[in-house]
Amino acid sequence: MSPEASNAGADRRRLLIVHHTPSPKVDTLVEAVIEGASTPDIEGVDVNVRAALSASSADVLGAHGYVLVTPANLGYMSGGLKTFFDTIYYPCLRETQGRPYGLLVHGNDDVDGAINSVAKIVKGLGWQQVSQPVRCVGDPSSNDRDAAWDLGATVAANLMTD
Ligand SMILES: Cc1cc2nc3c(=O)[nH]c(=O)nc-3n(C[C@H](O)[C@H](O)[C@H](O)COP(=O)(O)O)c2cc1C
Repeated sequence: MSPEASNAGADRRRLLIVHHTPSPKVDTLVEAVIEGASTPDIEGVDVNVRAALSASSADVLGAHGYVLVTPANLGYMSGGLKTFFDTIYYPCLRETQGRPYGLLVHGNDDVDGAINSVAKIVKGLGWQQVSQPVRCVGDPSSNDRDAAWDLGATVAANLMTD
């Protein structure tokens, strides 16, 4: 095997999408995030999708950037996403500082508390927000799906190497 061939893939980057999906509405938005992140215009970025309750520290350490998707629950992120952070926080604290991330929150009336709750934890991790949080309320509109697509594409594009 040539040195070039054995090195193939070494410079590829990985985007981890972590989602807690309790309903078809949230699933629609997750699908749009995945589609945007996987658009052929973005080269050299592999997309890894994990349900929040199955995502591991190895998934986080092995990725170069993150998109988080959660419903709002009682003015906070979902228990699923909180459990994800409880699992990965200290194991990933030192090695993931500065990595880019984006966030989408779906709710029925008010997603501010959920957005703030994620912002506090991610600030502690030292991740860098590279796209404004996407806030979706009620039935996802085509604008919401477009915003979710853009979120995935933006964070993935951020990982492209020169
Ligand atoms: C226990 C519970 C708490 C919730 N709290 C909020 C909330 O604080 N803000 C909000 O906008 N929606 C809240 N919701 C609505 C969820 O965000 C919503 O059910 C979820 O995003 C999925 O949307 P869907 O049920 O319309 O399909 C809550 C739902 C549940 C079950």
